[in-house]
Parts: sequence; structure tokens; C-alpha cells
Amino acid sequence: MIEEARYEKLFSTPVMRFRLSDHAALNARLLAEGERLRGANAGVSKSNRGGWHSEGNLFDSDTPCIVELRNAAEEAVLRVTRKITTKVDPASLRLKLFAWMNANPPGGFNAPHTHPGAHWSGVYYVSQPAVETGSSGMIEFLDPRSDLPHWRLLQAQAFKPKKKFRPAAGELVIFPSYLVHWVFPNEAEEERVTVAFNATFRKPSPEKAD
Ligand SMILES: [Fe+2]
Repeated sequence: MIEEARYEKLFSTPVMRFRLSDHAALNARLLAEGERLRGANAGVSKSNRGGWHSEGNLFDSDTPCIVELRNAAEEAVLRVTRKITTKVDPASLRLKLFAWMNANPPGGFNAPHTHPGAHWSGVYYVSQPAVETGSSGMIEFLDPRSDLPHWRLLQAQAFKPKKKFRPAAGELVIFPSYLVHWVFPNEAEEERVTVAFNATFRKPSPEKAD
């Protein structure tokens, strides 16, 4: 005979989704600001394919709609951090947010990547074209553990190799920056516009050199 003595779930990966209230008005202002930025610079090409990507740290801007989004992103990062730890108050640490805007045109996609060096990465959906079927515009996360294929036989939720969903406009998705993610090609007629960011905590006071 055996008795159950202990059951633990180790090495989980938290993903959290928020919804901004009154996002329609904010999104309209963010789209207009995106148009203005695109007019001012051609952007850069990183993991985005066939799209536009703003230059520098978008959250350095003092444009009110960007400040509003930055505040929401910061609040979301503190909230998700408080979900995973009670040992450290994240508000006692310095938090650096680095953001950029992406415009993903019809056919554009985003290749699998991580964001090394940050704690959390987030994506806010400014616009998301409506589609009835398929995976257009979905973000997909890939299991960071290796050597799992034989577990598929058991169809256990904890060992699924991937997870995808299509966030709606006004949603903010946050996940650990080590998590490999990518975006399915946009099969709609309109662009998908997002603001992505990395969030990195540092110790509260600068380290003194010896
Ligand atoms: Fe990313």
C-alpha cells in the first residue's frame, strides 16, 4: 500500500492576460501616434517580417497615450510579479521598460524568438484584424523544456508542446522573456498593430564598485 505524501508541480511557466478598460479611445490615439512615428522614421527590421518596427524606446515618449500605456504596462508587470513571488516586493526594485511598436501588414509574421536579458516581455494589442478561421494573428508559445515528444501520448495539459491564442485589441499579454514565441502570418486585409516591451528589474540602488 502507498499513501500520497506530496505532489508538486515544478518548473511552470506563467502567462498572464490583462484587458485595458476603455481601450477603444486609447487604441485610436495609439494608432494615430503610430502613423505619426512611421512618417518620421522608416523603422527597423528585427524578428518582424514584412512589417514596421519603431526605433528606440517608445516608452521614453511623453505623448499622453504612450504614457498611459506605459503606466498600464508597469502595473501589469508588478501584478504578474506578485503572482509568482511573495518574497520580494517588485515595487522596491528599479524597473526598466523598453518598448517598441510593430505594424504587421497582410502576410507579415514574426519569427520564433526570445527576449534575452529581461524578466518579462509583454505585448499590447492596439488593433487585431477580425478573422473567422485559421491561425491568422495568433501568438504561439513553445514549451521551453526539451525531450518531451513521448509525453504527447498522455495528452497532459502540463506537457503540451505549444499554446496559441488570438488576443483581442485592448489585451495585454505578459510572459517570461525566456519563453520562445512567434506570431502566425496575418491573413487578414488590415494591419495588426501591437506595442511590445521588455521589463527588467534591477536592485534598488546602484552597486558600488570595490
Ligand atoms: Fe517577442
